[in-house]
Amino acid sequence: MKEICQSVFWTESVSDVVEHCFDLTGEAPIVLVDESTHDHCWPLFNQSGQFTKADLIEIPQGEESKSLEIAEQVWSALTNLHVNRSTWVINLGGGVVTDLGGFISSTFKRGVNFINIPTTLLSMVDASVGGKTGINFGGFKNHIGVFSLPHSVCICPEFLTTLPEEHIRNGFAEMLKHGLIGSEDHWNNLQKLPTTLEGVSDYISSSVQIKADIVERDFRDSGERMKLNFGHSVGHAIEAVGMGQEEHVLHGYAVAAGMVIETRLCALKGLISDEQAKDIEAVILQYFEVSNLLSISVEELLPYIWQDKKNTDHMNFTLLSQIGTGLVNQEVTAEELAQIIA
Ligand SMILES: NC(=O)c1ccc[n+]([C@@H]2O[C@H](COP(=O)([O-])OP(=O)(O)OC[C@H]3O[C@@H](n4cnc5c(N)ncnc54)[C@H](O)[C@@H]3O)[C@@H](O)[C@H]2O)c1
Repeated sequence: MKEICQSVFWTESVSDVVEHCFDLTGEAPIVLVDESTHDHCWPLFNQSGQFTKADLIEIPQGEESKSLEIAEQVWSALTNLHVNRSTWVINLGGGVVTDLGGFISSTFKRGVNFINIPTTLLSMVDASVGGKTGINFGGFKNHIGVFSLPHSVCICPEFLTTLPEEHIRNGFAEMLKHGLIGSEDHWNNLQKLPTTLEGVSDYISSSVQIKADIVERDFRDSGERMKLNFGHSVGHAIEAVGMGQEEHVLHGYAVAAGMVIETRLCALKGLISDEQAKDIEAVILQYFEVSNLLSISVEELLPYIWQDKKNTDHMNFTLLSQIGTGLVNQEVTAEELAQIIA
């Protein structure tokens, strides 16, 4: 396995992941899965039977599992299994499993060792890396949680073979964001991918590297790490508006639309040229059909944008000064938003 950055490993073969985990955990770790990763990823992970003595804890799939109720159930299961500080927890799943599992492991008996094995593109390039763990609470996302790094993150694209296409696209939005805020080369490389996103795995490790470098300089999210929020001030608002509707908006699609709007803001504020903004927008829209999200009115979005944690007495966005360079704490007014949102 190749170490992409501190404690984050990359391999093309699941057997390397198995070997790495086995060396650390032995044959009987706790493995946290959701319904889908139980069916699709656990058989791949345990194909040679090394972990037949493992105890599996399964949670329902979906965002609803990032709750106090499910956390309590998992803490109880760990208690019943007599887990102690020498036990290892392996979080095998997407961002829901790694966020919840990281939080549970970090708080149970003041912390047991855990390993993240991300199985969605979003969790490979984003959620499993960087040490943010937590659950939703009182209707607020990631409201309760801790910064806590896993012992290892093992990224292997073999897990993606069973992942539905819309979830591949979901993670791709964050990869585009990594290019825009951190590396023009990465941005240029991603554009070479066909709209089917075939070959996207080739760029996972560069995406992770960009995120990890930023996290290393600002682990507790008090400055530079906010660059990773590009597209998210508007994206989170789009997601929140979508919550009231029949069809749930996937995070990556909301972020893609958010990046389009925030790129227009960059041009409006003279940070980048109109031509650059149009080029960026065209690339994003080549991969994401988000016309319905772009037609949400500024009146609907504003109350949610005001809730963003980056705001002070005014709205603060992360914007771009050029492709590959994010700028944190850029003041944005409601009037400016009204000029660029339909
Ligand atoms: N901690 C962070 O820094 C961070 C960053 C970004 C996102 N997140 C969090 O990540 C979560 C979203 O993560 P996600 O998009 O991975 O969602 P998810 O974990 O809900 O996974 C999406 C769906 O894919 C299924 N699945 C997972 N792996 C599969 C596989 N290999 N084959 C088939 N199905 C599979 C899951 O069961 C689920 O139904 C959100 O809660 C978000 O807040 C956290």
